[in-house]
Amino acid sequence: MSCSHNSRTGGFAVALAGGIGLGGGLDFIMGTKDYLDTLFSLAGRVAVVIGGTGELCGAMAEGLAGAGAEVVLVGRNEEKAKARLARIAALGGKGWFHAADGTDRAQLRALLEAVLQRSGRVDVVVNGAGVNSATPFLEIPEEEFDRIVQVNLKGVFLGCQVFGQYLIGCGQGGSIINVGSMSGVVPLSRVFTYSATKAAVHNLSMNLAREWAPKKVRVNVLVPGFFPAEQNRKVLTPDRVASIMGHTPMKRFGEARELIGATLLLAGGAGSFITGAELMVDGGYHAMTI
Ligand SMILES: NC(=O)c1ccc[n+]([C@@H]2O[C@H](COP(=O)([O-])OP(=O)(O)OC[C@H]3O[C@@H](n4cnc5c(N)ncnc54)[C@H](OP(=O)(O)O)[C@@H]3O)[C@@H](O)[C@H]2O)c1
Repeated sequence: MSCSHNSRTGGFAVALAGGIGLGGGLDFIMGTKDYLDTLFSLAGRVAVVIGGTGELCGAMAEGLAGAGAEVVLVGRNEEKAKARLARIAALGGKGWFHAADGTDRAQLRALLEAVLQRSGRVDVVVNGAGVNSATPFLEIPEEEFDRIVQVNLKGVFLGCQVFGQYLIGCGQGGSIINVGSMSGVVPLSRVFTYSATKAAVHNLSMNLAREWAPKKVRVNVLVPGFFPAEQNRKVLTPDRVASIMGHTPMKRFGEARELIGATLLLAGGAGSFITGAELMVDGGYHAMTI
């Protein structure tokens, strides 16, 4: 895979010197517009958001676009993508949809080719496709186990391989944000396969962070607490909701847009020394015992 950058490459070099990459030093004068731009602007960048048709990653994509990135929404549902792209356009952002199954290496390679053709580069990759199920452990069919492992774990593995190879080859640096879960930190009842896959995603992310830090590719895990979304709606029974609230100091669910701040931190210059982190956005869930 060749490293193909478009005419915005010059802008990228300037931004790197300003510290978007690793070890570049953050040159800014506090109190100026450049201050926040140097930390958070993604102008001229391209972000590929796998799972961007969904609720959480769609909001993350909106946030990336709002910071100036061109976003590529990836999933299989074009209708959901269109709705999200309309919101992004209405906010003055730029993005497009590419249909791909995140569990298929050939489709991810074709995605990378398409992004390089159309947008010229990749700077940020979000691996966020996810599926869930609340089947009691002894009843989990192998097909269900395999399907969840395929999407939640193999999809992240493939996304990291395909895009990681490109980012390393470019040598310009990049940020991979894998979407984990609180259930990947401490296993969550009822979602056995899901929890196991997310724990593996956390582990893989830290392993790659160590491996790829010298190659200027940062790998972090964004860890949402509880956010009502399509994939977990069937799991959120009234007793479950009560139990979640009892364990969430802020006593509420998160709103998808509350992931934007953490996403921008991990994506751009403000996070230039952050790799291998598990960044929790959970209303204090992880800090709760009794
Ligand atoms: N909601 C929460 O409370 C919560 C908490 C912790 C972690 N998470 C994680 O956050 C991520 C986003 O989840 P969400 O809650 O926003 O759920 P969601 O709205 O259901 O989004 C999940 C997305 O994954 C995509 N997807 C599923 N299988 C795919 C495949 N084979 N190839 C490509 N895309 C695929 C779907 O896109 P298409 O339909 O277009 O294929 C869907 O839009 C997931 O990784 C989830 O595990 C969520």
